[in-house]
Amino acid sequence: MKTFANLLGSAALLGASMAHAGELEVTHWWTSGGEAAAVAEFAEAFDATGNTWVDGAIAGSGGTARPIIISRILGGDPMGATQLNHGRQAEELVEAGLMLDLTELADAEGWRDIVQPTSLLDSCTLDGKIYCVPVNIHSWQWIWLSHKAYADAGVDVPTNWDEFVAAAPALEAAGKIPLAMGQQPWQSNGAFGVMAIAIAGIDAWSKVTIEKDAEAAAGPEYAKVFQAAADARAFSANSKVQDWNQATNMVITGQAGGQIMGDWAQGEFQIAEQVAGVDYTCLPGLGVNEIISTGGDAFYFPKNDDPAVTEAQLKLASVMLSKEVQVAFNLKKGSLPVRGDIDLAAANDCMQKGLEILASGAILPDGNQTLSPDTQGQIEDLMVEFWNDPSYSAADAQAAYAAIIADAD
Ligand code: GAL
Repeated sequence: MKTFANLLGSAALLGASMAHAGELEVTHWWTSGGEAAAVAEFAEAFDATGNTWVDGAIAGSGGTARPIIISRILGGDPMGATQLNHGRQAEELVEAGLMLDLTELADAEGWRDIVQPTSLLDSCTLDGKIYCVPVNIHSWQWIWLSHKAYADAGVDVPTNWDEFVAAAPALEAAGKIPLAMGQQPWQSNGAFGVMAIAIAGIDAWSKVTIEKDAEAAAGPEYAKVFQAAADARAFSANSKVQDWNQATNMVITGQAGGQIMGDWAQGEFQIAEQVAGVDYTCLPGLGVNEIISTGGDAFYFPKNDDPAVTEAQLKLASVMLSKEVQVAFNLKKGSLPVRGDIDLAAANDCMQKGLEILASGAILPDGNQTLSPDTQGQIEDLMVEFWNDPSYSAADAQAAYAAIIADAD
């Protein structure tokens, strides 16, 4: 009897897994209006292959989603596929042998020839094997400015950081918040990174973030960055929102002058039917140096014993890199495609600008590619403290930062 029941049980299980073989639960943190519109393009394209995308959106941005995603994989409850930022976030999962090796598919489809810049694929590679599919290039290096806010305050839309700082009092006098900033730790950390590249300059930034040079972190170039961050803290003091897209909305509605945020913000302007150059301005590198960082998103596929699931995983990886899907997804996401052989004529002015900078080669790696998640977490903690406490001086914060860089990996 027992054997029979067991047999029955496994037959039922087998039946269930076969019936749902083409179903993949896909986890991601794309829940804002623009993000949801973009991810729907992936889902639609995957469903069109006869498989089924089971949406596993996790609300609350990457900081909330990543620990959930990672603990599910480590805990033996893996999803079919998951978003992570490409870079070092999945390093330990790959090293532990938990992720599907995509090398054969990548070779068959020539990913090494089509994915640009090649650093994107390098971030997916361990010991010569490829474990993720990069789907976009997202750059942090932008400030988004509201034409309405500046018009209401009677001043010109700034063209660089110094003008932004100079215009802040006029905005405040008009009852506006100069700088919109959400409270999630990654937002102030990201904004700090943008200020570092624009204000300290690329050499000092590279020394600190790539070479982990604590002396440079404690030096005069970074002192200017911490001073700018203290200014930014004052400009955003009344910005009480939590999520990044709520902060973007303050720019869209003209309550705030600007927001330092990655180019995923474009998805929100688009959903709100705002036009680049008419309703808002985007300045790369804070208008100081035209540069983009080439971070972004990649999908990883936790290993699964069922060959039918593996087949569906490989199909999804292939679909995500296909020409049509790269165009449709990235136009809605506000990101740049990872392949240069596609037509992006429909891109708006800001995206065109991003494409030009990419083509010019003025690119830098993203912090997620150069710093370990642990180091990133320590810097985020510092930024939260600094941003929330006006009495925390720029000099003290710089000293704490240099100590983190001294131990960084
Ligand atoms: C980033 C991600 C972007 C964007 C952003 C806000 O980590 O790379 O795609 O969605 O978070 O959610």
